[in-house]
Amino acid sequence: TTAEKGGYDHFMMKEIYEQPKAIRDTLGSRIKEETVDLTNEIGLNKEEINEIERIHFVACGTAYHAGLVGKYVIEDLARIPVECDVASEYRYRNPIITAKTLVIVVSQSGETADTLAALREAKRQGARVLAITNVVGSSVAREADDVMITWAGPEIAVASTKAYTSQLIAIYLLGAYFAQEKELKTAAEITTIISELKQLPEKVEEVLQQEETVKAFATSIAKHNNLFFLGRGLDNAVGLEGSLKLKELSYIHSEAYAAGELKHGTLALIEEGIPVIALATQPAIYDKMVSNVEEVKARGAHVLGLTTVGNNELEKTVDEVIYIPAVSDLLSPVITVIPLQLLAYYACLARGYDVDKPRNLAKSVTVE
Ligand code: G6P
Repeated sequence: TTAEKGGYDHFMMKEIYEQPKAIRDTLGSRIKEETVDLTNEIGLNKEEINEIERIHFVACGTAYHAGLVGKYVIEDLARIPVECDVASEYRYRNPIITAKTLVIVVSQSGETADTLAALREAKRQGARVLAITNVVGSSVAREADDVMITWAGPEIAVASTKAYTSQLIAIYLLGAYFAQEKELKTAAEITTIISELKQLPEKVEEVLQQEETVKAFATSIAKHNNLFFLGRGLDNAVGLEGSLKLKELSYIHSEAYAAGELKHGTLALIEEGIPVIALATQPAIYDKMVSNVEEVKARGAHVLGLTTVGNNELEKTVDEVIYIPAVSDLLSPVITVIPLQLLAYYACLARGYDVDKPRNLAKSVTVE
């Protein structure tokens, strides 16, 4: 009923709009004025944190995409080498696991069979396992050594939204905590990260106001069967999630490409009228993104650009722009993903499909 959906037409939209609250709740009491405090959740002491040699993110689907962001975040903040694997691959590829390996499994439900099997294998090989999950008392939560709950609340729609952004928050907290415990960041730097995290809910509210612009673009892509997401670095990681969302809901085939890699093959697929979504939120690689956009424009692509407020030059190159509020580079995925969630939602409606129950998919996959 509409009441269950909080007045929204679909659970997905309700959950998209619950993201500011989910972020606030996931930050919760884990942040103090000047420090990140995860001592209640993570049994590792300072010395043990210093001894972690490598981190493996292991997950499926959207949770895997959170891990891809996690690689950038943890390596940047905590200077620990990070790998990221889909759970069904991890178990069978003979990964290098030692007692100094921290395996982080990410799972909204905490019941995904592939993820659970990977967790068990990692433990068997002596790794310490930390679970990031949305369900207290789930299998993954029970079997892991340490647990960080994402306080997103129940997620009903098959396509994951608020669980993903909450997973990102848990990962930022973890990265900042490790940096703090390893004394890689000054007290002032940690305070800055904390205040930026605290501002995220408001920034999410702001970007949600772009709903109408996204809706218009979604309607324009509804007749297409192919589409590309381009981005570099963290934008590529978010592009992969945007592409998955769009496939799950609208059944439009899409690919997310590292923008610089396009010219090594995939550029052959760019033809007149093909929609391209160009994510350009990372200042360090902004100019490179602009030239990648020019490459696809020259071949007739219809480009929607996503960039930070103030980056007005992008307007000259793309067909349409969505401006997202400025946040630090590392935190931008939390904001960038929002228009992509809305895009998938409206593309699904424009094509007349079921938003909350896409064909062939299940909310939680408990078979391998
Ligand atoms: C299913 C869902 C996806 C989800 C994936 C992992 O495939 O349809 O939305 O990302 O499982 O689920 P988990 O509960 O482990 O995060």
